[in-house]
Amino acid sequence: MTTTLAEQDDFEAKRHSRLLKAIYVYEAPLRLWHWINALAVTVLAVTGYLIGTPLPGIGGEASAHYMMGWLRVLHFSFAWIFAFGFVGRIYWAFVGNRHARQIFLLPITSAKWWGEVWHEMKWYLFITREPYKYVGHNPMAQLMMFLFFTIGAVYMICTGCALYGEALGIDSWAYQSFSWVFTAVGGNSLQVHNWHRMGLWVTIIFVMLHVYAAFREDIMSRQSLISTMVSGWRMFKD
Ligand code: HEM
Ligand code: HEM
Repeated sequence: MTTTLAEQDDFEAKRHSRLLKAIYVYEAPLRLWHWINALAVTVLAVTGYLIGTPLPGIGGEASAHYMMGWLRVLHFSFAWIFAFGFVGRIYWAFVGNRHARQIFLLPITSAKWWGEVWHEMKWYLFITREPYKYVGHNPMAQLMMFLFFTIGAVYMICTGCALYGEALGIDSWAYQSFSWVFTAVGGNSLQVHNWHRMGLWVTIIFVMLHVYAAFREDIMSRQSLISTMVSGWRMFKD
C-alpha cells in the first residue's frame, strides 16, 4: 500500500506526540522530601555504624577531638530530619495526589495487583521480556517500598527514640513514650541496640536494591524513572 507524503507526515507527527507524552506524577514536596530523606538515611547509616563500631582510638584528649560526641550529634540531628520528614510525608499522603498514597496503601485484596507483583518479579529476574507500563510506582516497587521503607521507618524511629529516651532519663518524653519498646524485646536495653542495628543492614540492602532498580528500570523499562524523581514528569518510551 502506498502512502502520500502528507499521510506519512501525519503518521510521524502522531507518533512523535505519543513519544513525548508526559504525565506529572511526583509533586515538588514529595520530590524534595525524597532527596532530603535519602541524604538523612545515608548520614544515619554511616554515623550509626560508627557509633556501634567505633574507630580505633585516636590520640589526644577525648574532650579535645570529641569524635564520638560529633558522631552522636550528627546521628541525632539527622534522626530528627528523618523522623519529622516522615511525619511530613504522611501529611502529604493526605493532601497530595493519588501517587503520594502508594507507599502507604497497598491494594492487597486485588488478585490482579498480586498478579502484577508476580509479573514484575519475573521481569526483574530476567524471566520475562515484556514489562508493563506504569504511571506511578510499579506494584513490585510499591510492595518493597511499603515493607522496607514505610514499615522500616516506623521501626527505626521507635527503636531509635527508645534508645534516645534511655540516654535522656526515665522522666524524659522520649522514655515515657517509647519505653514499651524495651518491654517488647524482654526489657533488655542491649537487645534494643541490636534490633536498631539490625535495621541498619536492612536499610543498606533496601538502598542497594532500590538504586540498582532505579537505574535498571531507567534503562530497560518503558518509562522514565530517575528524571521523574527530579522533575516530577513521567515520560514513556513507546
Ligand atoms: C535509617 C535510620 C537509622 C539508622 C540506619 C540508624 C543506625 C544506627 C546504628 C547502627 C546505631 C548503633 C547501634 C548500636 O550498635 O548500639 C544507632 C544508634 C542510635 N540511634 Fe540510630 N539509626 C537510624 C535512625 C535513628 C532515629 C530516627 C533515631 C531517633 C532518635 C536514632 C537514635 C539512635 C540512638 C539514640 C542511638 C544510640 C546512640 C548511643 O548509644 O550512643 N536512630 N543508630
Ligand atoms: C538512602 C537512599 C534512598 C532512600 C531511603 C529512598 C527511598 C525512596 C522512597 C521511599 C521512594 C518512594 C517515594 C514516594 O512515593 O514517596 C523512592 C522513590 C524513588 N527513588 Fe529513592 N531513595 C533513596 C535513594 C535514591 C537514589 C540515590 C536514587 C537514584 C539514583 C533514587 C531514585 C528513586 C526513584 C527514581 C524513585 C521513583 C520510582 C518510581 O517512579 O517508581 N532513590 N525512593
